[in-house]
Amino acid sequence: MSTAAKRPTIIVDCDPGHDDVFALVVANHYANLVGITAVHGNAPLSRTLPNALIACDVFGIGAPVFAGADRPLVAPPRNAPHIHGESGLGGPELPPVRRAAEKTGAVEAIIELVRKHEGEGVWLAPLGPLTNIALALRAAPDLGKRIAGISLMGGGTLHGNRAPHAEFNIWADPEAASTVFNYGGPLKMVGLNTTHQVVITKEFVQRVSALGTPSAKFAAELLDFFSTTYGEQLGVYGGPLHDPCAIFAITHPDLFDLREKRVDIELHGEFTRGMTAVDERPIVQSKKEKPNALVAYEPKSAQIFELIYEALATSPSA
Ligand code: BDR
Ligand code: CA
Repeated sequence: MSTAAKRPTIIVDCDPGHDDVFALVVANHYANLVGITAVHGNAPLSRTLPNALIACDVFGIGAPVFAGADRPLVAPPRNAPHIHGESGLGGPELPPVRRAAEKTGAVEAIIELVRKHEGEGVWLAPLGPLTNIALALRAAPDLGKRIAGISLMGGGTLHGNRAPHAEFNIWADPEAASTVFNYGGPLKMVGLNTTHQVVITKEFVQRVSALGTPSAKFAAELLDFFSTTYGEQLGVYGGPLHDPCAIFAITHPDLFDLREKRVDIELHGEFTRGMTAVDERPIVQSKKEKPNALVAYEPKSAQIFELIYEALATSPSA
């Protein structure tokens, strides 16, 4: 089993979204989760914000939740109902929202939380379009130097999903992604080349369901819905659990092969806007552009599912 890094301090920026919920569960279990910021993405912010609050209620997550951007910097707002349903969390019956979001907005919250926890080395973990993170980096030019790093789910080295070469989170706000990839500090990119090796099976859904608690039932229904909608896209039952991987790249980095790469965001291509252009040329590093990212490859998928199961098994019931 992978060994955990020292319990890191994390702010999760998310657009729940099925896989975002599992990322919140593992961040709460394996890290010091000090804040959750919501952003437009899988569904409009009017859904992703309450969905984040519902996930906190169901899985006993106490971190404060903040509302962020309801649209990308430049691109028109676009969602993913064909994968996540109109609510963003298709599958289980959603309980009413019992907790309230904080009054502070996401950008201000990110800046304040990073300053407050600076001594602990704060990681930002964006799991949706990068609008909130780009706005925070622009609003506080010192932010990039105050964080331990950014570990994001987005992009990929092989193919896209929302477009042939573009993954949804990058495609939804490429200008924001470009700001984040060029911020100048440590950045881990966990993209589709990795997350498409971390695929839910029917056996895993049944194992989670067999835990028998209300939160496990909720989790199993999310996993099943997501695996069914992905199954319609990929031709076989099973959704890739993308977002938890970006959390594990912080908490359990030895679950991946992290390789230094130069990654640029394509902003102008007619067929490639939103692509992560990863320099994979087999030439010596000194002849390439300076690397700006650690790109994840070769996930230890079985261990990842065991860690997710353990986090779900110890979640308080709703
Ligand atoms: C990413 O897009 C969303 O559908 C998922 O939550 C994940 O963050 C995968 O492309
Ligand atoms: Ca997401």
